[in-house]
Amino acid sequence: MGLVNTILMLLTFAFVHQEVAITEARLDVGVDYGMLGNDLPSPPAVVQLYQLYNISKLRLFDPNPAALAALKGSGIEVTLGTLNQDLQIIASSVDAAKTWFDTNVKPFISEVNITYISAGNEVIPGELAKYVLPAIQNLQNVVQGYGLATIGVTTVVATTVLGTSYPPSITTFSEAARADIVGIVKFLSSSGSPLMINVYPYFAYASDLVNVRLDYAQFTATGPVVQDGPLSYSNLLDAVVDAYYWALEKEGVTNLNLVISESGWPSAGNGNFTTPALAQIYNQNLVKRFLNNTGTPKHPDRSLGGFIFAMFNENQKPAGIEQNFGLFNPDATPVYDIVFN
Ligand SMILES: *[C@@H]1O[C@H](CO)[C@@H](O)[C@H](O)[C@H]1NC(C)=O
Ligand SMILES: *[C@@H]1O[C@H](CO)[C@@H](O)[C@H](O)[C@H]1NC(C)=O
Ligand SMILES: *[C@@H]1O[C@H](CO)[C@@H](O)[C@H](O)[C@H]1NC(C)=O
Ligand SMILES: *[C@@H]1O[C@H](CO)[C@@H](O)[C@H](O)[C@H]1NC(C)=O
Repeated sequence: MGLVNTILMLLTFAFVHQEVAITEARLDVGVDYGMLGNDLPSPPAVVQLYQLYNISKLRLFDPNPAALAALKGSGIEVTLGTLNQDLQIIASSVDAAKTWFDTNVKPFISEVNITYISAGNEVIPGELAKYVLPAIQNLQNVVQGYGLATIGVTTVVATTVLGTSYPPSITTFSEAARADIVGIVKFLSSSGSPLMINVYPYFAYASDLVNVRLDYAQFTATGPVVQDGPLSYSNLLDAVVDAYYWALEKEGVTNLNLVISESGWPSAGNGNFTTPALAQIYNQNLVKRFLNNTGTPKHPDRSLGGFIFAMFNENQKPAGIEQNFGLFNPDATPVYDIVFN
């Protein structure tokens, strides 16, 4: 089975969520707010839409000031990305990271609940990968200096950081990624921030119909599909998350949490693999998976939460499936129905 392919997903998790879960069900479901459309609602209207649908977490791909202004006082938890092109400067010194933070984040910090800052999105392996660790370290230094230790600083990776990931237990980080990812995960494991991972069962399914069953990709299998030693898997998402845990363990990192920064299923663009009905099944099951408050077969105690990609169909992305990951049309009508609580 070839997992693979790019794209993202992110998932927010902390031990504290489990501790409060008994008395207060915390909705660990977020949606990525991509803004690559010229026909999207205004940021204040988008924030209202999140609130109307009870979506408690939002991820921004860059510190868009209009979006951050609209989030003031909303109570929505925000994961904020840096632009990839800003990584090099942020990595250059603590002062440069402070300038980035003061310009982009500080004006909003008293009224917007920023829970994570992600230094870069899917740049490992690649030319920018070497800047990620120093960027994380510099930003960590800045938030600590401001007494904002509740903000976790991390990065977002795609499954391209993994080598062969089937079965999950044989997984290691890929040779191309190792030089950069190992230092990053060791740092995160000491700072206590999760690693954010983008996981797209859709791409595994669409690229390997022979070996990847639709029910396994969509959380609809009624029993184990993959057996890996003593661990059985009925869905691909859990298997990919455990592949990461195995890769981390092989580097001696056993206490790092994972958050799904992106996952989703397009509703159009690839024939009968991408219908609104299939996208609805995947994304509603993903919401249920996040709300279930359970971990994976390998780490049942590490509740898995995260973000669906994406809020809107975005017409300035490449044509085809890339424009059709949205839960909502640009006119704010749902592409299909999903319940978030
Ligand atoms: C949001 O939550 C409220 C309170 O639980 C509920 O009444 C409402 O139907 C929910 N809205 C949607 C769109 O699910
Ligand atoms: C921000 O979100 C965190 C994480 O859920 C929560 O613990 C905290 O109370 C929130 N802060 C505010 C001001 O809403
Ligand atoms: C798509 O159509 C092909 C050919 O009719 C069929 O074999 C396949 O099961 C369909 N896939 C889905 C997901 O509906
Ligand atoms: C939710 O968790 C229970 C108990 O771990 C499990 O049996 C069930 O399959 C899970 N449901 C989903 C949708 O993940």
